[in-house]
Amino acid sequence: MQKDLIRLMRDPNLIPPEKQTLLSSIAGQAASMNMPCYLVGGFVRDILLGKPVNDLDIIVEGDAIQFGESLVKKYGGKLTPHTKFRTAIWHLPLTFAQSVQSASLDLITTRNETYLSPGALPTIKPSTIGDDLLRRDFTINAMAVRLDGEHFGELLDPLNGQADLEKKIIRILHPRSFMDDPTRIFRAIRYEQRYGFFLDPSTLHLINSECFAVLNTLSGQRIRHEIDLIFAEENSLKMLLRLSDLGVFNRFDPNMPKINEKYLALQNSIPPAEFPISVDRVLLGYLLWLFDSPVEIVNALSKRLDFTSDLSNATLAAAQLKNDLIPCKDFKPSAWTFHLEKIPLSVIYALWLITNEPALKEFIVKWRHVKAKSTGDDLKARGLPPGPRFGEILPQLRAAWLDGKVHSFEDELKLLETLIR
Ligand code: CTP
Repeated sequence: MQKDLIRLMRDPNLIPPEKQTLLSSIAGQAASMNMPCYLVGGFVRDILLGKPVNDLDIIVEGDAIQFGESLVKKYGGKLTPHTKFRTAIWHLPLTFAQSVQSASLDLITTRNETYLSPGALPTIKPSTIGDDLLRRDFTINAMAVRLDGEHFGELLDPLNGQADLEKKIIRILHPRSFMDDPTRIFRAIRYEQRYGFFLDPSTLHLINSECFAVLNTLSGQRIRHEIDLIFAEENSLKMLLRLSDLGVFNRFDPNMPKINEKYLALQNSIPPAEFPISVDRVLLGYLLWLFDSPVEIVNALSKRLDFTSDLSNATLAAAQLKNDLIPCKDFKPSAWTFHLEKIPLSVIYALWLITNEPALKEFIVKWRHVKAKSTGDDLKARGLPPGPRFGEILPQLRAAWLDGKVHSFEDELKLLETLIR
């Protein structure tokens, strides 16, 4: 078993060689300090599944700040310590940061957590690796692999997470888990749908009205974070449908927008080659999800889930633009352009995905790039003093190009003469 894990940890397809070098440096330093050092959580789960790993969750049985300081001394970089939780962020020295394409690494002290009341953030105390694994969400996330010295590659699996991985089961560690932290409901469904696993029946049974009541007490920000994580996933639609079937959204807020499969499936569509835009996947998810909702519902949800100002502006602009599509139908290209220019491009793209309105596509591909050739300097050279007239004439020139009234610079100059006169 250990040999197998060591083989996986040396596999360059799972951990790029540069990351392996970083891990060896960390492991070497931990060994020299006699400080047991582990990778935990998603790292162990994914490597045992033979999947490439992203996050390196490093924990030490000892003082993570002291450990971080010694890494800085030996390899460089900077440390941001958090004394209250005995954790630190190691801002990697440039050589490491460039090779592993990550600016920093979290260093955590093994700890246990006590939830003073359901849904509250936990109180944390340093503890052993054994206790640290017991505080976690699911058996498949409660494994650690040791890094330092001769222990390299040892698996710690006190809750049989590996067996659950093989059986494809998501299982909580104790019956109060969802009450302690109801965001774990979202996490359970994320793993279930990401890996094609199943919720263990007794775990499923505990997703019930009791923990929904606690979920309702959580801050909007904590819940939105979970929805963000879902929208970042390729299987986001399946996850949302599953959560919806379990009654999570409804219990959380009866006005929660329904999951429209047809729209949300568009989140995975690849923009046509002629669309030179990259749209944030998470933002697109929200825009497609909320497309059917009236402005008031979007507004209320934005408040309840504590949307960031960008997200709030984009979702409200989408709700508004959706209402404008029919009245604007017969607009000329210039009118469309002047209207759409005030709206984030991602919103226009999302609405085009759903409605196929040709004007939206034309705007993204062509119209927004059309500009008059004359500039403010040209107007000045023609004796027009800078002022409000500039703001009228230049858009009129641009509109003439957009609406096909001028086709060449000479046409534009003729129009300019007329406008100035
Ligand atoms: N964890 C937990 N309860 C939570 C959040 C996290 O027990 N509510 C623990 C789990 O052991 C998890 C680890 O903290 O594996 C790291 O959390 P996170 O980075 O959110 O998850 P990953 O396991 O890395 O999974 P993902 O691939 O979704 O990022």
